[in-house]
Amino acid sequence: MKQIALRAAEIARQLQERTGRSPRVGVVLGSGWGAAADVLSEQQIISYDALDGMPQCGVAGHAGNFVFGRAAGMDIVAVQGRFHLYEGHALDTVVLPVRILSELGVDTLILTNAAGGINTSYSPGDLMLLSDHINLTGCNPLVGVRASSAYPIFIDMTEIYDSGLRRSVAEHCGRLGINCHEGTYLQVVGPSYETPAEIRAFRAMGADAVGMSTVIEAICARYLKMRLLGISCITNMAAGVAAQRLSHGDVLKEMASVSENFCNLFKLIYSDISKFA
Ligand code: HPA
Repeated sequence: MKQIALRAAEIARQLQERTGRSPRVGVVLGSGWGAAADVLSEQQIISYDALDGMPQCGVAGHAGNFVFGRAAGMDIVAVQGRFHLYEGHALDTVVLPVRILSELGVDTLILTNAAGGINTSYSPGDLMLLSDHINLTGCNPLVGVRASSAYPIFIDMTEIYDSGLRRSVAEHCGRLGINCHEGTYLQVVGPSYETPAEIRAFRAMGADAVGMSTVIEAICARYLKMRLLGISCITNMAAGVAAQRLSHGDVLKEMASVSENFCNLFKLIYSDISKFA
């Protein structure tokens, strides 16, 4: 297999050839977060199938497209279909979309996901802006990456997620009547959901929400010097926090019922980023 950085550069070149666009803002869409792409105008959709070297993705709710479009006067690219560790993908594949976006010129990245609420003050339908994370996957996407002076691998992780962006998104949520928290996201490998004992342990560790994505991508994005915004939609309370049993179908159903609200939120987020950029 080709070295990951080379592979990402080749795929980015194909995307640039087809679209002629060089977006500086990217968004990775988690389960049910399609609204972030729906609000883009002048859309051009490139399927993963159409790109040499791009793996196919296979989870319900993840389409496998790059959606290029515009909002707030900027070019934006949305990734519909991430690669998860629980599908058996290698770390290099999990971070491939992030590396491709970086090659395209993206320097502000929004990572979205569906998550289980650990913090008992959260409710399904709430958003959580990531202020920090815990990597409980047992792996790191920078293992084996050759450090350079421009891209060192011993990166500072004190403030992974941009506090300025987070503050303005929290204000927008307030205005739109969306319940929004700031908290720590913990990534597990999955695909089984957690046990109640694990959730109690994660709470003691300081986690507010749990999910099966995002952290590995955030580490890679940080290495690539991107400004990061992480948003979780709490689709369910984590195991043992409420009486319900967990199912992927229910997670998608909850996302479908709350995600209409997200169109307006994303218009405002893109407009904020355009002021930062
Ligand atoms: N656990 C892990 N991942 C999830 C959950 C959960 O409860 N809900 C949505 N993604």
